[in-house]
Amino acid sequence: MISIQGVNKHFGDLHVLKDINLDVERGQVVVVLGPSGSGKSTLCRTINRLETIDSGTIAIDGETLPSEGRELAQLRSDVGMVFQSFNLFAHKTIIQNVTLAPMKVRKVDKAQAHDRAMKLLERVGVANQAEKYPAQLSGGQQQRVAIARSLAMDPKVMLFDEPTSALDPEMINEVLAVMTSLAREGMTMVVVTHEMGFARRAANRVVMMADGAIVEDAEPGEFFDNPKSDRAKDFLGKILNH
Ligand SMILES: Nc1ncnc2c1ncn2[C@@H]1O[C@H](COP(=O)(O)OP(=O)(O)OP(=O)(O)O)[C@@H](O)[C@H]1O
Ligand SMILES: [Mg+2]
Repeated sequence: MISIQGVNKHFGDLHVLKDINLDVERGQVVVVLGPSGSGKSTLCRTINRLETIDSGTIAIDGETLPSEGRELAQLRSDVGMVFQSFNLFAHKTIIQNVTLAPMKVRKVDKAQAHDRAMKLLERVGVANQAEKYPAQLSGGQQQRVAIARSLAMDPKVMLFDEPTSALDPEMINEVLAVMTSLAREGMTMVVVTHEMGFARRAANRVVMMADGAIVEDAEPGEFFDNPKSDRAKDFLGKILNH
């Protein structure tokens, strides 16, 4: 579903992605982890072309991402992305936040967009908040709305970049529960997170990045119990003793 081949990217002198090769099959859940600055967010951002690449190719469902133009807009809407900061439109209600893109981009009519949005809000457990504004919701609720908003575009792939790291501890689980159920329902997901419980429970693979390169790619059990590289051992030692 996602095919990344030989991708390189620089920010000036900094070689931020070094010959990245990563294939994610339909329905697979890949957790990406690694130290700060290792290129995890940049990798996510290149997958939906929020960042350009210097060389290599990225394809979604067999279609190589073009660098610009209308085709890019279409392919980009196949890729949902949820960030650490929820980025909801502050001056729009929850339901408006979820119906906006389907109506504008997909030309879905209002009644249909509304029905679908309510179903999605129900699925993430915030249907009773539909008429409120984002600031009236908790961080965990806002993040679940952000997930519903992405799902409203029927993406083929969902990218999550540290979706719980801005949340108070008691709200982390409610967001992870929504992500776990998405994973179980067969969504193809790339998730940057340091939530090791989620990685063990929901991921098919754990990919570790260090200094812009993939240094380990293994099943969760193998990665956590028997890491091969020194970088992975060192990293796990730090986060598990944290
Ligand atoms: N727009 C940019 N311009 C220049 N350098 C950048 C830019 N974005 C990121 N970088 C640099 O690229 C490197 C990788 O950044 P990236 O945000 O991908 O790391 P990360 O693994 O997501 O880190 P974190 O865990 O802190 O979120 C860092 O050294 C960062 O400073
Ligand atoms: Mg990051």
